[in-house]
Amino acid sequence: MSKLPIVEGVMKYVGENNKLFCMPGHKSGKGFKTTEIGRELYNNFIEADITEVEGLDNLHHPDGIIKEAQEKLSDLYGSRKSYFLVNGSTSGNMAMIFSCFNEGEEVIVERNCHRSIFNGIIMRKLKPIYIKNKIDKKINTPLSIDEEYLLYLIKNNRNAKGIIITYPNYYGVCCNLKLIINEAHKQGLMVLIDSAHGAHFGISSGLPENAVRLGADYVVMSAHKTLPSLTQTAYLHIGNNVDVEKIDFYVSAFLSTSPSYMLMCSMDYARYFLEDKGKEAYEQLIYICNLYKKKINNISDFHIISKEDVMDVYDMDLTRYVLQTRVGINMYKLSEYLRDKKVQPEMCDGVNIIFIFSPFNTAEEFKILYEALLKCNLENFQGESILALEQKIPHMELRPWEVLLMASELKDYRETNGRICKEAIVPYPPGIPIIQQGETIDVDIIKAIDYYIKCGVSILGMDDKFKIKVTRD
Ligand SMILES: Cc1ncc(COP(=O)(O)O)c(C=O)c1O
Repeated sequence: MSKLPIVEGVMKYVGENNKLFCMPGHKSGKGFKTTEIGRELYNNFIEADITEVEGLDNLHHPDGIIKEAQEKLSDLYGSRKSYFLVNGSTSGNMAMIFSCFNEGEEVIVERNCHRSIFNGIIMRKLKPIYIKNKIDKKINTPLSIDEEYLLYLIKNNRNAKGIIITYPNYYGVCCNLKLIINEAHKQGLMVLIDSAHGAHFGISSGLPENAVRLGADYVVMSAHKTLPSLTQTAYLHIGNNVDVEKIDFYVSAFLSTSPSYMLMCSMDYARYFLEDKGKEAYEQLIYICNLYKKKINNISDFHIISKEDVMDVYDMDLTRYVLQTRVGINMYKLSEYLRDKKVQPEMCDGVNIIFIFSPFNTAEEFKILYEALLKCNLENFQGESILALEQKIPHMELRPWEVLLMASELKDYRETNGRICKEAIVPYPPGIPIIQQGETIDVDIIKAIDYYIKCGVSILGMDDKFKIKVTRD
């Protein structure tokens, strides 16, 4: 038994000296050590862990150094106003949903949105109208939204007040956001963007444009995912159509009243880094990503996905890899092999392994990844590949928040035809809900569950006795 389970666990991990091809963007502190001011900050982080002492400023009512830093942030991204968030993009997603919508209103939202968006929809008692995600057969993952279907929804849902889109998604895939924003604005819809993975966008022409400059009304970005900023830090940006008093209130309501200056310093630093060194640093990163992508693609049976490989993808973030191999290989086992080689990917979905890079991944680290793949014997990782099913949006009988208030019972999924789902059922991979709270289970849903059970994937929302939660009759 450990004396200090968390401390001992984390110290062990740190001691392994893994190469981080995952969040956070500062990559074990290297992001701070590349500049003089960053080194000073790095050496004094713990001392910077103070709250609103005399002489500093107040995040909930900024009129000094925080106000000045937020104005610089706003200038860099081109927003009307920008905010530092100390509770992650999760708090930004909540704040934008509460600020934009009133209880009971309709929202057009990506089916595969992050759970913080879905939780916000439940808490604000909204009616979601889902946009399907396209599943690319070649890549076998939910790569982007079905744009045609979204444009149809925009035109045919006169009661919807806004749309929520993820830009980019976990795979770095971007939809044609400019087109979507224009169409949505024409119909009077507000556009809310979860850009948790896109805080570095727009800094170089080799990257997709940032969602603020494309005209979105609210944009949330996790600073910690791709920039040199501490975990839990995020930015919220607003455009000209937003009621500032209202969003000021909700941002404050969803943030801790004891924000640490350690977090705020790192967000200020990440903004400084982007502004001062970002263009050059990201161009160098894109160069090295492209270089090693070519080398890895030359290893037989490995392939890093490019825009050209996938149908209907508007743009892709070149600073992440989506790695695939041949059919019949268990990607979880390959991922474990990489971990043994001290290569830490961001995630594996069973079909793809995702790597997130930042300018602080060195050429030496890319070489380690390349050599680990070069030396790997895929025969050791044989297993099943899982093919994702086409998505169908079931009939919504009740709104998700209504279901939350109802009693539930556990039933064998094979006996739930016609019942209302109380907890989302999400096979992982591919990670898209087959059914959400409030939707009616039918034979197609049961068949889809049958299929994913046969594939042996884990299914969130189902217990080990094949029981799922439905509302009580
Ligand atoms: C698309 C997306 N949105 C929001 C979040 C939540 O971000 P945070 O962890 O900064 O709260 C995540 C986290 O992984 C995410 O992937």
